[in-house]
Amino acid sequence: MNRVLAHCGARYPIVQAPMGWIARSALASAVSRAGGLGIIETSSGETDACQAEIRKMLALGLPFGVNLPIRFLKDDAMLRFVCESGIRFVTTSAGSPAKFIAPLHDAGIVVYHAVPTLDAALKSVDAGVDGLVVEGGEGGGFKNPEEVSTMVLLQAVRERVEVPLIAAGGIIDGRGMAAAFALGAEAIQMGTRFVSSAESPVHANYKNAIVDAEATGTWVLNKKSSPCIRALKTQFTATIHEQGLMPPDTFKGIRAVYFDGDMEAAPALAGQSAGLIHELKSAQAIIDDTVAEFHAISRRLGALGSAASFG
Ligand SMILES: Cc1cc2nc3c(=O)[nH]c(=O)nc-3n(C[C@H](O)[C@H](O)[C@H](O)COP(=O)(O)O)c2cc1C
Repeated sequence: MNRVLAHCGARYPIVQAPMGWIARSALASAVSRAGGLGIIETSSGETDACQAEIRKMLALGLPFGVNLPIRFLKDDAMLRFVCESGIRFVTTSAGSPAKFIAPLHDAGIVVYHAVPTLDAALKSVDAGVDGLVVEGGEGGGFKNPEEVSTMVLLQAVRERVEVPLIAAGGIIDGRGMAAAFALGAEAIQMGTRFVSSAESPVHANYKNAIVDAEATGTWVLNKKSSPCIRALKTQFTATIHEQGLMPPDTFKGIRAVYFDGDMEAAPALAGQSAGLIHELKSAQAIIDDTVAEFHAISRRLGALGSAASFG
Protein backbone atom coordinates (compact mmCIF):
# COMPACT_ATOMS: atom_id res chain seq x y z
CA MET A 1 0.00 0.00 0.00
CA ASN A 2 1.22 3.47 -0.86
CA ARG A 3 1.78 5.13 2.54
CA VAL A 4 0.79 8.62 1.38
CA LEU A 5 -2.56 7.29 0.12
CA ALA A 6 -3.07 5.42 3.40
CA HIS A 7 -2.43 8.70 5.24
CA CYS A 8 -4.60 11.02 3.13
CA GLY A 9 -7.36 8.83 1.68
CA ALA A 10 -7.01 10.01 -1.94
CA ARG A 11 -7.21 7.64 -4.93
CA TYR A 12 -3.96 8.82 -6.56
CA PRO A 13 -0.74 10.03 -4.94
CA ILE A 14 -1.01 13.44 -6.59
CA VAL A 15 -1.25 16.49 -4.32
CA GLN A 16 -2.25 20.02 -5.32
CA ALA A 17 0.14 22.45 -3.67
CA PRO A 18 -0.95 25.00 -1.08
CA MET A 19 -0.85 28.46 -2.67
CA GLY A 20 -2.06 31.68 -1.05
CA TRP A 21 -5.55 32.72 -2.34
CA ILE A 22 -5.30 30.16 -5.20
CA ALA A 23 -5.60 26.90 -3.24
CA ARG A 24 -9.20 27.35 -2.18
CA SER A 25 -12.22 25.09 -2.55
CA ALA A 26 -12.85 25.70 -6.29
CA LEU A 27 -9.44 24.25 -7.16
CA ALA A 28 -9.07 21.82 -4.25
CA SER A 29 -12.49 20.21 -4.82
CA ALA A 30 -11.76 19.77 -8.56
CA VAL A 31 -8.46 18.05 -7.72
CA SER A 32 -10.01 15.84 -5.02
CA ARG A 33 -12.95 14.90 -7.26
CA ALA A 34 -10.46 13.85 -9.93
CA GLY A 35 -8.81 11.49 -7.41
CA GLY A 36 -5.92 13.69 -6.24
CA LEU A 37 -5.58 15.48 -2.93
CA GLY A 38 -6.73 19.10 -2.84
CA ILE A 39 -5.10 21.30 -0.23
CA ILE A 40 -6.59 24.48 1.25
CA GLU A 41 -4.14 27.31 1.92
CA THR A 42 -3.97 29.50 5.00
CA SER A 43 -0.90 31.53 3.97
CA SER A 44 -3.08 34.39 2.69
CA GLY A 45 -3.67 35.18 6.37
CA GLU A 46 -7.41 35.54 5.70
CA THR A 47 -8.45 33.39 8.65
CA ASP A 48 -12.23 33.72 8.26
CA ALA A 49 -12.17 33.15 4.51
CA CYS A 50 -9.87 30.12 4.82
CA GLN A 51 -12.02 28.62 7.57
CA ALA A 52 -15.09 29.05 5.33
CA GLU A 53 -13.21 27.29 2.50
CA ILE A 54 -12.30 24.42 4.85
CA ARG A 55 -15.95 24.10 5.91
CA LYS A 56 -16.99 23.92 2.24
CA MET A 57 -14.51 21.08 1.68
CA LEU A 58 -15.69 19.24 4.80
CA ALA A 59 -19.28 19.48 3.57
CA LEU A 60 -18.29 17.88 0.25
CA GLY A 61 -16.97 14.77 2.00
CA LEU A 62 -13.95 14.51 -0.33
CA PRO A 63 -10.43 13.75 0.93
CA PHE A 64 -8.42 16.96 1.31
CA GLY A 65 -5.75 18.59 3.41
CA VAL A 66 -4.90 21.96 4.93
CA ASN A 67 -1.54 23.76 4.88
CA LEU A 68 -0.32 25.62 7.96
CA PRO A 69 2.60 27.93 7.06
CA ILE A 70 4.03 28.23 10.57
CA ARG A 71 5.93 31.53 10.24
CA PHE A 72 3.00 33.28 8.58
CA LEU A 73 0.29 32.37 11.09
CA LYS A 74 -0.66 35.43 13.18
CA ASP A 75 -1.84 33.38 16.16
CA ASP A 76 -3.02 29.85 16.98
CA ALA A 77 -6.62 30.39 15.79
CA MET A 78 -6.11 28.38 12.60
CA LEU A 79 -4.29 25.57 14.40
CA ARG A 80 -7.12 25.30 16.93
CA PHE A 81 -9.75 25.38 14.18
CA VAL A 82 -7.97 22.65 12.24
CA CYS A 83 -7.62 20.47 15.35
CA GLU A 84 -11.33 20.80 16.14
CA SER A 85 -12.75 20.46 12.62
CA GLY A 86 -12.27 16.78 11.78
CA ILE A 87 -9.53 17.34 9.19
CA ARG A 88 -7.39 14.28 8.66
CA PHE A 89 -4.30 15.53 6.79
CA VAL A 90 -2.15 18.65 7.30
CA THR A 91 1.01 19.89 5.66
CA THR A 92 3.10 22.38 7.60
CA SER A 93 5.67 24.66 5.99
CA ALA A 94 7.84 27.75 6.59
CA GLY A 95 9.37 27.10 9.99
CA SER A 96 9.88 24.34 12.54
CA PRO A 97 6.90 21.97 12.91
CA ALA A 98 8.01 20.86 16.40
CA LYS A 99 5.35 22.73 18.41
CA PHE A 100 2.55 21.83 15.99
CA ILE A 101 3.01 18.07 15.97
CA ALA A 102 1.64 17.21 19.44
CA PRO A 103 -1.63 19.17 19.11
CA LEU A 104 -2.20 17.89 15.56
CA HIS A 105 -1.43 14.28 16.51
CA ASP A 106 -3.65 14.56 19.59
CA ALA A 107 -6.46 15.53 17.20
CA GLY A 108 -5.76 12.42 15.10
CA ILE A 109 -4.26 14.42 12.21
CA VAL A 110 -1.42 13.17 9.99
CA VAL A 111 1.36 15.78 9.60
CA TYR A 112 3.74 16.17 6.64
CA HIS A 113 6.27 19.00 6.78
CA ALA A 114 7.63 20.74 3.66
CA VAL A 115 11.43 20.87 3.62
CA PRO A 116 13.93 22.49 1.22
CA THR A 117 17.10 20.87 2.69
CA LEU A 118 18.34 17.58 4.16
CA ASP A 119 19.00 19.32 7.47
CA ALA A 120 15.38 20.48 7.72
CA ALA A 121 14.22 16.97 6.78
CA LEU A 122 16.26 15.33 9.57
CA LYS A 123 15.07 17.86 12.17
CA SER A 124 11.43 17.38 11.10
CA VAL A 125 11.71 13.59 11.40
CA ASP A 126 13.30 13.99 14.85
CA ALA A 127 10.35 16.21 15.79
CA GLY A 128 7.95 13.38 14.87
CA VAL A 129 6.40 14.22 11.49
CA ASP A 130 4.58 11.41 9.67
CA GLY A 131 6.03 12.34 6.27
CA LEU A 132 7.81 15.04 4.31
CA VAL A 133 7.08 17.23 1.30
CA VAL A 134 10.52 17.47 -0.31
CA GLU A 135 10.61 20.77 -2.19
CA GLY A 136 13.39 21.30 -4.71
CA GLY A 137 14.69 24.74 -5.64
CA GLU A 138 13.13 24.67 -9.11
CA GLY A 139 9.63 24.95 -7.61
CA GLY A 140 7.56 28.13 -7.50
CA GLY A 141 6.83 30.30 -4.48
CA PHE A 142 8.81 30.85 -1.28
CA LYS A 143 12.22 29.24 -1.49
CA ASN A 144 15.33 28.47 0.49
CA PRO A 145 18.13 30.67 -0.95
CA GLU A 146 20.41 27.63 -0.95
CA GLU A 147 18.63 25.96 -3.82
CA VAL A 148 18.95 22.19 -4.06
CA SER A 149 17.20 20.59 -7.04
CA THR A 150 14.37 18.13 -6.54
CA MET A 151 16.49 15.41 -8.17
CA VAL A 152 19.35 15.78 -5.67
CA LEU A 153 17.27 16.65 -2.59
CA LEU A 154 14.97 13.64 -2.96
CA GLN A 155 17.93 11.25 -3.08
CA ALA A 156 19.70 12.97 -0.19
CA VAL A 157 16.57 12.74 1.97
CA ARG A 158 15.61 9.19 0.88
CA GLU A 159 19.08 8.01 1.85
CA ARG A 160 18.62 9.18 5.44
CA VAL A 161 14.94 8.91 6.44
CA GLU A 162 12.27 6.21 6.42
CA VAL A 163 9.08 8.33 6.40
CA PRO A 164 7.04 8.67 3.18
CA LEU A 165 8.08 11.47 0.82
CA ILE A 166 5.97 13.71 -1.42
CA ALA A 167 8.17 15.21 -4.16
CA ALA A 168 7.58 18.85 -5.13
CA GLY A 169 9.25 21.21 -7.56
CA GLY A 170 9.50 20.87 -11.32
CA ILE A 171 6.86 18.14 -11.74
CA ILE A 172 3.92 18.58 -14.12
CA ASP A 173 3.14 15.14 -15.52
CA GLY A 174 3.66 11.36 -15.43
CA ARG A 175 7.28 11.68 -16.56
CA GLY A 176 8.14 13.79 -13.56
CA MET A 177 6.06 11.53 -11.33
CA ALA A 178 7.88 8.41 -12.55
CA ALA A 179 11.25 10.14 -12.00
CA ALA A 180 10.22 11.16 -8.48
CA PHE A 181 9.11 7.61 -7.65
CA ALA A 182 12.41 6.24 -9.00
CA LEU A 183 14.20 8.54 -6.56
CA GLY A 184 12.16 7.34 -3.59
CA ALA A 185 9.00 9.46 -3.49
CA GLU A 186 5.56 7.92 -2.88
CA ALA A 187 3.62 10.94 -4.13
CA ILE A 188 4.05 14.19 -6.02
CA GLN A 189 2.87 17.73 -5.33
CA MET A 190 2.28 20.17 -8.18
CA GLY A 191 1.91 23.94 -7.79
CA THR A 192 2.56 25.76 -11.06
CA ARG A 193 0.70 23.05 -13.03
CA PHE A 194 -2.46 23.65 -10.99
CA VAL A 195 -2.14 27.47 -11.08
CA SER A 196 -2.60 27.04 -14.82
CA SER A 197 -5.54 24.64 -14.59
CA ALA A 198 -9.08 25.43 -15.71
CA GLU A 199 -10.40 25.48 -12.13
CA SER A 200 -7.63 27.71 -10.79
CA PRO A 201 -9.22 31.02 -9.76
CA VAL A 202 -6.43 33.21 -11.19
CA HIS A 203 -6.85 35.56 -14.15
CA ALA A 204 -6.23 34.23 -17.69
CA ASN A 205 -3.19 36.55 -18.04
CA TYR A 206 -1.43 34.64 -15.25
CA LYS A 207 -2.33 31.23 -16.68
CA ASN A 208 -1.22 32.31 -20.17
CA ALA A 209 2.05 33.76 -18.84
CA ILE A 210 2.83 30.31 -17.41
CA VAL A 211 1.95 28.61 -20.71
CA ASP A 212 4.13 31.11 -22.61
CA ALA A 213 7.13 30.90 -20.25
CA GLU A 214 10.24 28.91 -21.07
CA ALA A 215 12.20 26.87 -18.52
CA THR A 216 14.42 29.94 -18.11
CA GLY A 217 11.34 32.12 -17.57
CA THR A 218 11.64 32.46 -13.79
CA TRP A 219 14.24 33.72 -11.38
CA VAL A 220 14.98 33.47 -7.71
CA LEU A 221 14.72 36.84 -5.99
CA ASN A 222 15.77 38.29 -2.65
CA LYS A 223 18.37 35.60 -1.95
CA LYS A 224 20.11 37.69 0.68
CA SER A 225 16.98 38.44 2.70
CA SER A 226 13.62 36.88 3.49
CA PRO A 227 11.39 35.70 1.91
CA CYS A 228 13.39 34.38 -1.02
CA ILE A 229 11.00 33.60 -3.88
CA ARG A 230 10.86 32.10 -7.38
CA ALA A 231 8.66 34.10 -9.75
CA LEU A 232 8.08 34.67 -13.46
CA LYS A 233 10.37 37.11 -15.26
CA THR A 234 8.41 40.34 -15.66
CA GLN A 235 9.36 44.01 -15.57
CA PHE A 236 8.29 44.10 -11.93
CA THR A 237 10.56 41.21 -10.96
CA ALA A 238 13.38 42.50 -13.23
CA THR A 239 13.64 45.58 -10.99
CA ILE A 240 13.93 43.41 -7.87
CA HIS A 241 16.44 41.20 -9.65
CA GLU A 242 18.61 44.21 -10.54
CA GLN A 243 18.36 45.73 -7.05
CA GLY A 244 18.99 42.37 -5.36
CA LEU A 245 16.60 43.16 -2.52
CA MET A 246 12.82 43.08 -2.30
CA PRO A 247 11.06 46.10 -0.76
CA PRO A 248 8.80 45.16 2.22
CA ASP A 249 5.61 46.12 0.33
CA THR A 250 6.45 43.91 -2.67
CA PHE A 251 3.37 41.72 -2.23
CA LYS A 252 0.80 44.44 -1.71
CA GLY A 253 -0.44 44.05 -5.30
CA ILE A 254 -0.56 40.24 -5.28
CA ARG A 255 -4.35 40.09 -5.58
CA ALA A 256 -4.18 42.37 -8.63
CA VAL A 257 -1.83 39.82 -10.24
CA TYR A 258 -4.00 36.87 -9.31
CA PHE A 259 -7.46 38.25 -9.95
CA ASP A 260 -7.10 41.32 -12.24
CA GLY A 261 -4.32 39.87 -14.39
CA ASP A 262 -2.01 42.84 -13.80
CA MET A 263 1.27 40.98 -14.15
CA GLU A 264 3.26 44.06 -13.11
CA ALA A 265 1.50 44.59 -9.75
CA ALA A 266 3.60 42.09 -7.75
CA PRO A 267 5.76 38.98 -8.32
CA ALA A 268 3.80 36.26 -10.15
CA LEU A 269 5.06 33.17 -8.32
CA ALA A 270 5.84 30.19 -10.54
CA GLY A 271 8.39 27.40 -10.89
CA GLN A 272 10.78 26.43 -13.67
CA SER A 273 8.11 23.85 -14.51
CA ALA A 274 6.29 26.70 -16.29
CA GLY A 275 8.60 25.89 -19.20
CA LEU A 276 7.05 22.41 -19.45
CA ILE A 277 3.43 23.59 -19.45
CA HIS A 278 2.14 24.16 -22.98
CA GLU A 279 -1.63 24.22 -22.56
CA LEU A 280 -4.36 24.85 -20.01
CA LYS A 281 -6.10 21.70 -18.83
CA SER A 282 -8.80 20.81 -16.33
CA ALA A 283 -7.73 19.29 -13.01
CA GLN A 284 -9.38 16.04 -14.17
CA ALA A 285 -7.30 15.99 -17.38
CA ILE A 286 -4.09 16.83 -15.50
CA ILE A 287 -4.62 13.94 -13.10
CA ASP A 288 -5.88 11.44 -15.70
CA ASP A 289 -2.97 12.23 -18.06
CA THR A 290 -0.42 12.12 -15.25
CA VAL A 291 -1.63 8.73 -14.02
CA ALA A 292 -1.79 7.25 -17.55
CA GLU A 293 1.68 8.50 -18.44
CA PHE A 294 3.10 7.32 -15.10
CA HIS A 295 1.75 3.82 -15.72
CA ALA A 296 2.99 3.73 -19.33
CA ILE A 297 6.51 4.79 -18.26
CA SER A 298 6.50 2.32 -15.36
CA ARG A 299 5.64 -0.52 -17.79
CA ARG A 300 8.40 0.58 -20.17
CA LEU A 301 10.94 0.80 -17.36
CA GLY A 302 9.74 -2.55 -16.00
CA ALA A 303 10.90 -4.13 -19.26
CA LEU A 304 14.41 -2.80 -18.53
CA GLY A 305 14.58 -4.92 -15.40
CA SER A 306 17.07 -7.45 -16.76
CA ALA A 307 20.73 -7.23 -17.71
CA ALA A 308 19.95 -7.90 -21.39
CA SER A 309 17.62 -4.92 -21.64
CA PHE A 310 20.40 -2.46 -22.55
CA GLY A 311 21.62 -4.67 -25.43
C1 LIG B 1 1.70 30.71 -6.92
C2 LIG B 1 2.35 29.86 -5.88
C3 LIG B 1 2.07 30.09 -4.53
C4 LIG B 1 2.62 29.29 -3.52
N1 LIG B 1 2.26 29.49 -2.22
C5 LIG B 1 2.66 28.59 -1.26
C6 LIG B 1 2.13 28.65 0.08
O1 LIG B 1 1.30 29.50 0.37
N2 LIG B 1 2.56 27.74 1.00
C7 LIG B 1 3.48 26.75 0.67
O2 LIG B 1 3.85 25.93 1.52
N3 LIG B 1 3.97 26.66 -0.60
C8 LIG B 1 3.57 27.54 -1.56
N4 LIG B 1 4.04 27.41 -2.86
C9 LIG B 1 4.96 26.29 -3.18
C10 LIG B 1 4.15 25.06 -3.57
O3 LIG B 1 3.55 24.53 -2.41
C11 LIG B 1 4.96 23.93 -4.23
O4 LIG B 1 5.91 23.42 -3.36
C12 LIG B 1 5.65 24.32 -5.52
O5 LIG B 1 4.75 25.04 -6.31
C13 LIG B 1 6.13 23.09 -6.24
O6 LIG B 1 6.81 23.42 -7.42
P1 LIG B 1 6.10 23.59 -8.85
O7 LIG B 1 5.55 24.97 -8.83
O8 LIG B 1 7.21 23.39 -9.84
O9 LIG B 1 5.03 22.56 -8.95
C14 LIG B 1 3.52 28.24 -3.86
C15 LIG B 1 3.81 28.02 -5.23
C16 LIG B 1 3.25 28.81 -6.23
C17 LIG B 1 3.56 28.51 -7.68
